Amino acid sequence: MHLTLRRVHRRTAKREAREPAFYISTPPASPYTSFKMADPAFALPSYDEIHVWSTRLDDPKSDVGRLYETLTPDERDRAARFYFEKHRRRFIVGRGILRHIIACYFGVGAAQIRFDYSLKGKPALAEPKVENFSCNLSHSGDLALYAFSDGAPIGVDVEILRPVEDMDAIARRFFSSLECDMLQGVPAADRIEAFFNCWTRKEAYVKAVGLGLWIPLDSFTVSVAPSEPARLVQLRSPSDDAAKWSIHHLRPAVDAVGAVAIPSLNRKLVLRQFA
Ligand SMILES: CC(C)(COP(=O)(O)OP(=O)(O)OC[C@H]1O[C@@H](n2cnc3c(N)ncnc32)[C@H](O)[C@@H]1OP(=O)(O)O)[C@@H](O)C(=O)NCCC(=O)NCCS
Repeated sequence: MHLTLRRVHRRTAKREAREPAFYISTPPASPYTSFKMADPAFALPSYDEIHVWSTRLDDPKSDVGRLYETLTPDERDRAARFYFEKHRRRFIVGRGILRHIIACYFGVGAAQIRFDYSLKGKPALAEPKVENFSCNLSHSGDLALYAFSDGAPIGVDVEILRPVEDMDAIARRFFSSLECDMLQGVPAADRIEAFFNCWTRKEAYVKAVGLGLWIPLDSFTVSVAPSEPARLVQLRSPSDDAAKWSIHHLRPAVDAVGAVAIPSLNRKLVLRQFA
């Protein structure tokens, strides 16, 4: 590793100043379980928007008990299976806040929300029954991102920037050869950020498609360099049209990068921070 993380963060912080910011949106007097509200932050995503919310899962102000009350029995079972209390708490807070945001969009109680899961594990809103709404989520450390659209398939991914042992070996294993070449072409000082740009863009795409790791990760190519816009460069199958996909770069924190992917162009990114 050629750089300390502090230097990486300093460089990425400079870049962050030029990137779209997440705006804090605190629901008024949120009782977590049920309320209706007319906060414009909770207007549903329209056909030309993507909504992305970020939140911190270790916030000591989170009312874990009340969030837990909103979880379904299967989610409580999942929570109970975590070995470490810290991870259990993060799961409860992450799920509870996801429920809370969706509940606010639809003006229902958070405990009323139901999710269905595809065979490959992608969650979809089952209750309330609505047609034009898709969601996806991702977490890394205590950071969580939630992405919502008008029903277009959507995928989101976030990673905390951190040193990666065997970065080149991991890249060779998971990235396409073009991505590996692009990574090598990035100045050493930008390599960690480039690596996680690539990682999160790939994950966002496979999550939007809904197949997760059933899609070979080296079968498509995304842009990598921090100096270049996020995009899907190439899909292996000529019938798949990379040009119809948008990938948006996200910078939810100075020490984190993310991506949101959607098969649709020219959508406005609406960024919110749940605090
Ligand atoms: C879904 C997947 C693609 C991403 O998982 P991840 O990066 O480990 O975890 P994230 O926090 O970003 O996302 C997890 C969420 O994705 C959602 N998810 C699960 N399967 C999904 C699928 N097939 N499609 C879309 N979303 C899915 C779930 O909501 C899950 O959250 P939950 O467990 O709280 O319900 C997973 O298949 C995976 O195992 N990834 C391994 C990571 C890897 O090796 N990457 C290689 C580098 S490119």
